[in-house]
Amino acid sequence: MRHIIAKLLAAALLLCGCAQTKAQNDMKNGLDGNWPVGSLNTAYAKYFIGNSHLASLAEGEGKLPVHNVTFEPGCRNNWHIHHKGGQILIVVSGKGWYQEWGKPARELKVGDVVDIPAEVKHWHGAAADSWFQHIALSVPAEGASTEWLESVDDAYYSALVPGESKSLVAYFSATGTTAQAAKDLAKATGSAIYEIVPKEKYTSADLDWRNDRSRSTLEMKDPASRPELRSTLPSVKDYDTIYLGFPIWWYTAPRIINTFLESLDLDGKTIVLFATSGGSDLGDTAASLQGSAKGARIVSGGLLNGRKSEEELKAWAQNAK
Ligand SMILES: Cc1cc2nc3c(=O)[nH]c(=O)nc-3n(C[C@H](O)[C@H](O)[C@H](O)COP(=O)(O)O)c2cc1C
Repeated sequence: MRHIIAKLLAAALLLCGCAQTKAQNDMKNGLDGNWPVGSLNTAYAKYFIGNSHLASLAEGEGKLPVHNVTFEPGCRNNWHIHHKGGQILIVVSGKGWYQEWGKPARELKVGDVVDIPAEVKHWHGAAADSWFQHIALSVPAEGASTEWLESVDDAYYSALVPGESKSLVAYFSATGTTAQAAKDLAKATGSAIYEIVPKEKYTSADLDWRNDRSRSTLEMKDPASRPELRSTLPSVKDYDTIYLGFPIWWYTAPRIINTFLESLDLDGKTIVLFATSGGSDLGDTAASLQGSAKGARIVSGGLLNGRKSEEELKAWAQNAK
């Protein structure tokens, strides 16, 4: 009998020890331990970078689907859109981020509520150095669905710094060179990044500058040409500085840059131009774009040809303003 009691006591101590270890681990992880973590979220893993966990708080017929989502440090979901019905997030533990397309990332802490409207492209996830938990409530709607899109750029995510000043890198790139410079610059300056996408993509025939009938030649010959944009415009109200990048075409900015500038309210903003080229510099591009950016101060930042180090880009951005 004494033997059995001793065994039971040992088992109880062991269980107690485990519970304590879990709570201690949760606290160490930055979770307060009050909310269920659930199981590894394997079903949606392909739409996440890093590990997430899912605990169902309510689901089933006649119920509002409520989940608690736990993100390990560095874990975030891909850009996605909730169609028809939005989603509400309530942060219950740890630190994280939420971002809507074209807007700066918003820092999230316990008690924050994010009301995600339907049809808005966004992502959410943990801070790089913290676990993160939010309750997710799906707004019920007939025919509701989620469209999963590209992952959040690694360079951009790792450059997110809480409390940093808000700037945007917006760029157009026909063949990828300016895109690389833009990504490096966004990482170095902790800026959000936005790609200016033409409604009609430029083919290599379109880009043939030796052909005086090619699309790019015709556009550049006509100062009134305004190629249409495919992308939804960014909301620029939260940015003071916009780094605007493009390839030099015929010694100046492609006409789609005029389309972009004329589509936004840029009053009071500083726009720092950067470009890549085969050798030509920005020349009088800043002056020629001024008419398309009413009320903004346009600064000729310079060429970013060739990969630059983070330190070089930081110094470049500092001097450019
Ligand atoms: C239509 C067209 C015109 C160009 N005009 C110039 C030019 O005037 N001076 C120059 O140095 N490079 C010129 N280039 C080269 C591009 O500026 C250069 O390759 C740039 O890095 C491409 O950037 P992207 O890959 O982001 O499109 C031209 C390229 C194209 C397609």
